[in-house]
Amino acid sequence: MSNLFLKHFFYIVLVIFSNLSISENLILVPENILDVRSGKLIKAKVYIEDGIIKSISQDEEEFKTAKIIELSGITLMPGLMDAHVHLIGNNELHGYQSMSESSQMATIYGVKNAKSTLLAGFTTVRNVGAGHFADVALRDAIKQGVVLGPTMLVSGPSLSISGGHGDNNLLPFSSDNHSHKHNIVDNPWDARKAVRINRKYGADLIKFTATGGVMSKNTDVNAKQFTYDEMKALVDEAHSHGMKVAAHAHGLKGIKVAIMAGVDSIEHSSYIDKDTIQLAIDKGTYLSMDIYVSDYILGEGSKKGILEESLVKERKVGKLQRENFKAANSMGANMVFGTDAGIYPHGDNAKQFKYMVQWGMTPLEAIQASTINTAQLFGLSDVGELKEGFKADIVGIRGNPLKQIDLLEDVVFVMKEGLIYKD
Ligand code: ARG
Repeated sequence: MSNLFLKHFFYIVLVIFSNLSISENLILVPENILDVRSGKLIKAKVYIEDGIIKSISQDEEEFKTAKIIELSGITLMPGLMDAHVHLIGNNELHGYQSMSESSQMATIYGVKNAKSTLLAGFTTVRNVGAGHFADVALRDAIKQGVVLGPTMLVSGPSLSISGGHGDNNLLPFSSDNHSHKHNIVDNPWDARKAVRINRKYGADLIKFTATGGVMSKNTDVNAKQFTYDEMKALVDEAHSHGMKVAAHAHGLKGIKVAIMAGVDSIEHSSYIDKDTIQLAIDKGTYLSMDIYVSDYILGEGSKKGILEESLVKERKVGKLQRENFKAANSMGANMVFGTDAGIYPHGDNAKQFKYMVQWGMTPLEAIQASTINTAQLFGLSDVGELKEGFKADIVGIRGNPLKQIDLLEDVVFVMKEGLIYKD
């Protein structure tokens, strides 16, 4: 039997086993629990019933037919969250190679990627951009217990202007390449319609590209894409349906206009300046800054087939983004953990924590960015902390992540909604 088979077999047994015990009460007995709000380590047990945390307590509680799970040497904390992933597709396909990947194949890779993400300790993620609503299917398959993965919030296709970061640019003109796609919008009413269509097919949130990007052909990261009126229409339509809006934006102008238009988060935020950080703070806009991925792009990029044009852009964006991350955090901006996993292998998301600490966050702030803050941005009030009434989304690490942040790269225990996926 191959190692891979054994590993899969092991997880399947775990899941079946956990499923059987779904109605069973569980008591987790760890070394300690990290309270991610105060940063205190607490000696207590976690009582779980039907996937929900019943209590966290030092006293022996009356708990009928409970199974006790000993986790000696383990620190428990809430499941991690990533506000910016792309689970759909084979992450080895760079440049425009993914255009030859069928949506069916991309979805199958999504199943694999979802599992790697969950087993790395990420129990909730926001998928910001996927073709053919494959993200909706993956989210629902996970919810229905068909496949393993984190709880997903999904955007469906990213909205873009013609020739924008979310379009396929510089292909030879043909009626095929030019056929109308609903996610390519060039006026406020098309923007509203695109939001309505994404919602109709099951999206939870809206993602649009407010500037050019690193990975797209023939776009300038500093160029604003979409007019204020288009962004305003899009945000107004999304908010009227209770959907959040995530704006991809590197350049300052696009960042500023997107914040003015009322988006909930700026993705990348690379060229943000002090005035605009203050604007984001005043407007309650979250900043999701993917400061690890640059090292992957520049280190592995040419080997992996990332376009030369993208490498040229990344050399300018990466360093400035990190400096601006530091400035934003020191000014007290609402920072969330977002990685752009999918450019690099899924499951490596936690590598970004170390960078966040290197670039000015305390370990506790980096952890809060991936728990409390992300839950707030997502509009979820039952995840992000270990608290009575919250979902039992719990991860365990060996040691204290406040002393050594890269321990988060090696999560040894994963529970989602009361089921154990890694032990
Ligand atoms: N998806 C983003 C884009 O293509 C990736 C940016 C990566 N670079 C960075 N420094 N965060 O623009």
